[in-house]
Amino acid sequence: MSAQASGKRITTADIAARKAGEPIVCLTAYDAPTAEILDDICDLILVGDSVGMVVHGLPSTVGVTMEMMILHARAVMRGSRRALVVVDMPFGSYEESREKAFENAARLLKETGAQAVKLESGRYAADTIRFLVERGVPVMGHVGLRPQAINVMGAFKARGRTTAERAEILAEAEATAAAGAFAVVVEGVSEDLAQEVTERVAIPTIGIGASTACDGQILVTQDMLGLFDWTPKFVKRYAALRAAIRAAAEAYAGEVRRRTFPEPAQVYRLDSGKPKKPA
Ligand code: KIV
Repeated sequence: MSAQASGKRITTADIAARKAGEPIVCLTAYDAPTAEILDDICDLILVGDSVGMVVHGLPSTVGVTMEMMILHARAVMRGSRRALVVVDMPFGSYEESREKAFENAARLLKETGAQAVKLESGRYAADTIRFLVERGVPVMGHVGLRPQAINVMGAFKARGRTTAERAEILAEAEATAAAGAFAVVVEGVSEDLAQEVTERVAIPTIGIGASTACDGQILVTQDMLGLFDWTPKFVKRYAALRAAIRAAAEAYAGEVRRRTFPEPAQVYRLDSGKPKKPA
């Protein structure tokens, strides 16, 4: 019986076994209540370093720290019990050396209880992935548009536009799989490139802006819930939370200003020993 069927947490092996099978459903979460809502719907919850942009208001993911990832991953672990929880390694925590990567990956697993880490896997990262996996750290790779490389890439735009870029992305994905990653995120590439990557690697590809050719999909939860005015082209909004929150806040503000909130139902009536008024 798989871990999924027995009601235990989904494992990295369960996800790896879904290659070319039932599509893998993934979303991000950064807090306990959201994780609790998503837990039985998603196969995998990513505590993405996108937290820096969508929760902390940073201009990119570059400023995200280990402490931020640990704090948010702990909350997600408290809120979930079934989905596989994967934590992003923040920029600067794994590129310098494989030893430093192991030290930080081990911290993420030990201090949060999450089961795996994700890192953006340019070809240089293969050696680090192998080092981590051999030492007991399951790794999910991330190729194509790599948001942590924004200062080199110049903009958050689709990649694989030239023959050289396509070849580089294919090589990155193959090196990531060969190094022992259990899955790989493929971000911001055309459908035919996503298809080629998916055919070439033996591990599941999780697409974001990469078409249905991938073995699974991931979106940033706040994006797909419609929390922001602007979202990238590849985001489909499944709710209009920004409008709903504004409408609720405006209704509340109006009632506070008119002194119609709180209503009697929200007011404590304690029997404080004060003499009761005669009926
Ligand atoms: O940080 C993140 O949320 C991610 C996903 C968008 C794949 O890396």
